[in-house]
Amino acid sequence: MHTSTADAATSTEETSVERKGSLVVVGTGIKTTGQLTMETIAWIERADAVPYVVGDPIAEAVIQRLNPEGAVSMASYYEEGKSRMFAYNAMIEHILRDVRSGKKTVAAFYGHPGVFAYPSHESIKRLRNEGYSAKMLPGISSEDCLFADLGVDPAVGGCQSYEATDFMLNSINIDSSSQLVLWQIGTLGDWTYKRQMYDIRAMPLLVQKLSQVYPLAHLVTVYEAPMFPGTEPMIAKIPLYWLSDFPITAAMTLYVPSARSRTPDMQMLSMFSMNAPYAGGSTPNDTPSVQGS
Ligand SMILES: C[S@@+](CC[C@H](N)C(=O)[O-])C[C@H]1O[C@@H](n2cnc3c(N)ncnc32)[C@H](O)[C@@H]1O
Repeated sequence: MHTSTADAATSTEETSVERKGSLVVVGTGIKTTGQLTMETIAWIERADAVPYVVGDPIAEAVIQRLNPEGAVSMASYYEEGKSRMFAYNAMIEHILRDVRSGKKTVAAFYGHPGVFAYPSHESIKRLRNEGYSAKMLPGISSEDCLFADLGVDPAVGGCQSYEATDFMLNSINIDSSSQLVLWQIGTLGDWTYKRQMYDIRAMPLLVQKLSQVYPLAHLVTVYEAPMFPGTEPMIAKIPLYWLSDFPITAAMTLYVPSARSRTPDMQMLSMFSMNAPYAGGSTPNDTPSVQGS
């Protein structure tokens, strides 16, 4: 195929313009006014394009103020009653278009942009495959807020974390000695987008599944982190069997505390106490040694 010099020059020029585009994905936190990091603010301010999806008008106003020229909401991609996947794909295409057209793009998502956020990960993956610079900065997720507001630490007995529908529909080994966080209980079994209430009539099935491992009287917490300055978290501690009747919204997360203490692994414990040089109160400065050889 013959390519003229002019064509080649144009295509080289286009390629170099295209490659100037880049992507940084940032999170606005849950309470945007207090949870935007300095680094995220700086990236938003200097961007050519700031496509964003946030859950409240204050977060939207903050982004618009930080970058009035570049800020564009992607919320309009959600369509009532349509699969949320349509909206996610449209968001990915929007972000890719911005970057391919040579713009320094900063895509903002609420919470942590990489936690339960398919379009952010997928955009980065596709752009890197095309040779663009693309990265993500961490943000404050609703689970981070949950640990703070409920005063629980994932280190104590461990913490399992699942998307509620995925948890309900798959065979998952629940360890009731560990804590459990179930995301998206407010959209349980409903893949479509709804402006108001989702169809969560599958909730009794989730309760049934949980009751295989937890007593029905086990106290669980329905939690909603505060989004606005001066507001408090919503923390409802209810018995598991009440869950089906509780008015759960899309911005709520379920926390299930452990129901029993951990079972020591006796074999491992005895091997550990026999062999470990530091078992029995020695300090980390002790010289390591191997016994029994
Ligand atoms: C699509 S995910 C987005 C999560 C978000 N990227 C984050 O970092 O928290 C939506 C789910 O996050 C949780 N979530 C969002 N906002 C919340 C809030 N204010 N309080 C508690 N959980 C929330 C709920 O489980 C909700 O169904």
